Amino acid sequence: MISIRSVSKTFTAPTGELLRVLDDVCLELEAGTSVAIQGPSGSGKSTLLGLMAGLDQPSSGEVVVNGQSITGLSELALSRFRARNLGFVFQAYHLLPHFSALQNVVIAAEIAGLAGAEAKAMEALARVDLQDRAEHLPAQLSGGECQRVALARAIVARPPILLCDEPTGSLDPLNADRVFELLLELQRDLGATLVLVTHDAHLAERMGLHIALERGRIVAGGA
Ligand SMILES: Nc1ncnc2c1ncn2[C@@H]1O[C@H](COP(=O)(O)OP(=O)(O)O)[C@@H](O)[C@H]1O
Ligand SMILES: [Mg+2]
Repeated sequence: MISIRSVSKTFTAPTGELLRVLDDVCLELEAGTSVAIQGPSGSGKSTLLGLMAGLDQPSSGEVVVNGQSITGLSELALSRFRARNLGFVFQAYHLLPHFSALQNVVIAAEIAGLAGAEAKAMEALARVDLQDRAEHLPAQLSGGECQRVALARAIVARPPILLCDEPTGSLDPLNADRVFELLLELQRDLGATLVLVTHDAHLAERMGLHIALERGRIVAGGA
């Protein structure tokens, strides 16, 4: 369960002006649900996802994940929390360029403290049908393949929550479909909560819940 309790986030712009990027957002997501977050560019979608992940802290309010408040945790506690609870997929893949597909997934498995990290990473790569690309570097993979490696990395520790920020935004329609179908399959297998930021209305339609953000506020679908 993800609980966003009266969360606001402000930044000070380089001009000194105060930017209210999220404004008193409340949201309750039950475990196992799938939710689409939509809204214009700059409306605060990535900021909201980052707060759910404890990658960033709210200026006020609280974020509670699986019964644990992650607001105000130390960096060490947060990284442990992330390794156990979260899988991430970003639009730009964020693979480590000097490591092979397999090593990218192994590193995530090791950070999560999994026994038999390499075997589990290989299993995850097979799950996204990339067992024959294990030794390739990211530069030797297509965009769709890179994103499938990122999916393998996200699920290798079988997290209860998948957070995806425009995961198909850089892909052609065919690969976008493939990655999206795979994402839904993996969510089903894990029984995970899926939070998907997307500009694609067709993908959003396939989610159970729909949240619309505008200028830092939930304008439709909130708690
Ligand atoms: N670290 C930061 N410092 C200042 N402003 C930021 C920072 N991060 C995001 N913003 C601003 O917050 C707003 C929302 O950003 P973001 O959450 O990335 O929007 P979205 O993902 O919906 O496009 C944008 O106007 C952006 O410029
Ligand atoms: Mg964004």
